[in-house]
Amino acid sequence: MRIGVLTGGGDCPGLNAVIRAVVRKGIDTYGHEFVGFRDGWRGPLEGYAMDLDISRVRGILPRGGTILGSSRTNPFKIERGVEKIKENLAEQGVDALVAIGGEDTLGVATKLTELDVNVVGVPKTIDNDLNATDYTFGFDTAVNIAMEAIDRLHTTAESHHRTLVVEVMGRHAGWIALHAGLAGGANVILLPERKFDLDQVAVYVEKRYQTNYSPIIVVSEGAMPLDGQMVLATGELDAFGHVRLGGIGQWLAEQLEKKTGKEARAVVLGHIQRGGAPTAFDRVLATRLGLAAIDAVHEGDFGKMVALHGTEIARVPFIAATGELKTVPPARYGEAEVFFG
Ligand code: F6P
Repeated sequence: MRIGVLTGGGDCPGLNAVIRAVVRKGIDTYGHEFVGFRDGWRGPLEGYAMDLDISRVRGILPRGGTILGSSRTNPFKIERGVEKIKENLAEQGVDALVAIGGEDTLGVATKLTELDVNVVGVPKTIDNDLNATDYTFGFDTAVNIAMEAIDRLHTTAESHHRTLVVEVMGRHAGWIALHAGLAGGANVILLPERKFDLDQVAVYVEKRYQTNYSPIIVVSEGAMPLDGQMVLATGELDAFGHVRLGGIGQWLAEQLEKKTGKEARAVVLGHIQRGGAPTAFDRVLATRLGLAAIDAVHEGDFGKMVALHGTEIARVPFIAATGELKTVPPARYGEAEVFFG
């Protein structure tokens, strides 16, 4: 079989580990051939490809980013997009695709499957918001980066008796904020799933000062105050209709400074959370998902996503993963709330 591999959407530590596992097992165990499609769905759409063999994947296991490049290209927003993909796959002699991506990339894979394109999906996102898998690779790395930042911020916040607000990624789901905040001992954690009461946050901040300890607030970029809306960086939309977020941290720091009279600063971690080497957990998870994806392709079990269920790797229909996002359940937020204030 000749198999195309692509990585789409926001990049994520562990993508290269998946590519390596797919190619190594695909060639060594099954004798398949590979073509690497560049920049997500743009690759098959424009016939933009590169050779992908064992020498090309040597040494990439610990490297962040993706050797294939990525983009948020949506072929369904492009005239004759699907026909172009089918033509380019036929021209390159590609029988099947391994698509590594999040809700948008796998959403495209779901629709292409219905149009008779052979696709197996691998779940990827630092946000950990894909359904039907317990974890996505990249999440553990992002959480560790954010936790380390919080640890560092504690010491400087205490020296200056300041409130520090840390804005982390998470558009619709607050998994990064929840885990990094719990691991870092945050004073308050604010998520997109639950609108927050600014006055209550100010009460938590005051309480922490009473014990001579400086508050660290962890806020997801998509979090919203009770009577407000998401804070947007620009009005710009991507090809999947997502607006660019950013700014809630700064807004919150200003509000808390006014309400508490204590100096406050905001730190935006942004793309630092997505860069650099994956943790051991993410390398192992990405490798296992890659191995399972090439097994599914080899068996012709298309229209499926490989997923982590407990400690086992399973296969689920695309629709189970892309139908709706996995958000933080109220009970999980309740666990963190015990430590607020
Ligand atoms: O979906 C992953 C993610 O990192 C989100 O957490 C974030 O909102 C978005 O991507 C940022 O996108 P971009 O890299 O295109 O600015």
